[in-house]
Amino acid sequence: MVSSKCTVMSQALMSAVIAVLFASCRCQYEPTWESIDSRPLPAWFDQAKFGIFVHWGVFSVPSFGSEWFWWYWKGQKMKAYVDFMERNYPPEFQYQDFAPQFTAEFFDAKQWAEIFAASGAKYVVLTTKHHEGFTLWGSKYSWNWNAVDVGPKRDLVGEVADALRAQGDLRLGLYHSLFEWFHPLFLQDAANVFTTNQFPTAKTLPELYEIVTKYKPEVLWSDGDGNAPDKYWNSTGFLAWLYNDSPVRDTVVTNDRWGYGSICKHGGYYTCSDRYNPGHLLPHKWENCMTIDQKSWGYRRDAELKDYLTIEQLLATLVETVSCGGNLLMNVGPTHDGRIAPIFEERLRQVGQWLGVNGEAIYNSSAWRAQNDSTTPGIWYTWKPKENAIYAVFLQWPSSGYVALNEPVVSQQKTVVALLGYSKPLDWQPLKPTGLKVSLPQLSYGQMPCYWAWTLRLTGAA
Ligand SMILES: *[C@@H]1O[C@H](CO)[C@@H](O)[C@H](O)[C@H]1NC(C)=O
Ligand SMILES: *[C@@H]1O[C@H](CO)[C@@H](O)[C@H](O)[C@H]1NC(C)=O
Ligand SMILES: *[C@@H]1O[C@H](CO)[C@@H](O)[C@H](O)[C@H]1NC(C)=O
Repeated sequence: MVSSKCTVMSQALMSAVIAVLFASCRCQYEPTWESIDSRPLPAWFDQAKFGIFVHWGVFSVPSFGSEWFWWYWKGQKMKAYVDFMERNYPPEFQYQDFAPQFTAEFFDAKQWAEIFAASGAKYVVLTTKHHEGFTLWGSKYSWNWNAVDVGPKRDLVGEVADALRAQGDLRLGLYHSLFEWFHPLFLQDAANVFTTNQFPTAKTLPELYEIVTKYKPEVLWSDGDGNAPDKYWNSTGFLAWLYNDSPVRDTVVTNDRWGYGSICKHGGYYTCSDRYNPGHLLPHKWENCMTIDQKSWGYRRDAELKDYLTIEQLLATLVETVSCGGNLLMNVGPTHDGRIAPIFEERLRQVGQWLGVNGEAIYNSSAWRAQNDSTTPGIWYTWKPKENAIYAVFLQWPSSGYVALNEPVVSQQKTVVALLGYSKPLDWQPLKPTGLKVSLPQLSYGQMPCYWAWTLRLTGAA
């Protein structure tokens, strides 16, 4: 008794000491991966679980095929893109000529922020500059190729940043591409096999300092290393500044796309690949970035209904991702005139409707010891250790009226099973060797707490 009390006391004392040390020490990071990678990820990010990705730029004007339009047309000379241009534009038309048509006349950042908040997302990541190089803010380093000088003549990044902050519960994330497909300085450095670094010095790094200082993002989503190593980009030098001296040093999180070979290995959280969804628990925090239109991140006028993931598919991806320790970053592509198409809006509001009932199993949850059920397909677990609650999300409402959970260890006296959004506890029977068979209530469609995936909360189980 005495000794265990002592342990408790000393543990409490120790956490207090650590808390004081952490608060008083201004940890200094060195410009090495060893040091950068040692920084603990600010806790808010893992708690947030769900963010919205927004791909918007000059590519939203042709809105054909992909946000990689310029590269597919002029770089790879893909037939579909070349034909599209020949059929619809005069022969002398250049990609740059799309920029004046990037008009954003219906863009209302407050409306966007309202839709994003309604989705239940906790952060929003906006493409401030994609590989085309066009900056959505009036960058000093992107003369005449930015949204203040050409096109909308507005600071789109600033408007989004202000609207998210006014909304209250949404953090600002900024996507930024390191390289640019056709920038002459980048092409020159590439021709020199990256032994020169004119482009990062004149363009990438000044822009990064500019957006961090000006907009104070809490996610910095780097992309597009152009096959150049992190040394070329001076990534660790920049990240040391970001973590030591920037205005967001205490709360900012970054990803892993900071130079050839850094992905899934260095930086902040891991993205590993687009649409990364390993299906098992990872020891390092990660994010699944994916897009509702399966074929493109930017808006596409040529999309068909079947290209858009259904709400059932989106929720399955969300729960699988969260169960395996990831965050989901779900992408929408606004139009050149600033609208979020109703199909995207509907999906986002549906996710929000679902999270309104089932968010308890998602936000602030931890990965449990099992991620999905060993026997019953379509069941994903999360956990809240402080509340002693295990959550089992099931993706199909079984016609049998029973859900068999084979993982939890239950006790007749202590285990209580609830269906989120339904008031009465549910009956259950133990299974052998472990687990339980839960009787679902017989509900008419109108009595269902939600329509696409349901959550059982087990308390007093292990
Ligand atoms: C690269 O990072 C180092 C270390 O932070 C810094 O001193 C240097 O100025 C950076 N170089 C450029 C070109 O920004
Ligand atoms: C998650 O936890 C944080 C920190 O304790 C808290 O501020 C936040 O309100 C929680 N979020 C939800 C949705 O429960
Ligand atoms: C659990 O998830 C993994 C990874 O997605 C999958 O391979 C396995 O079949 C799932 N188990 C069941 C019972 O569905």
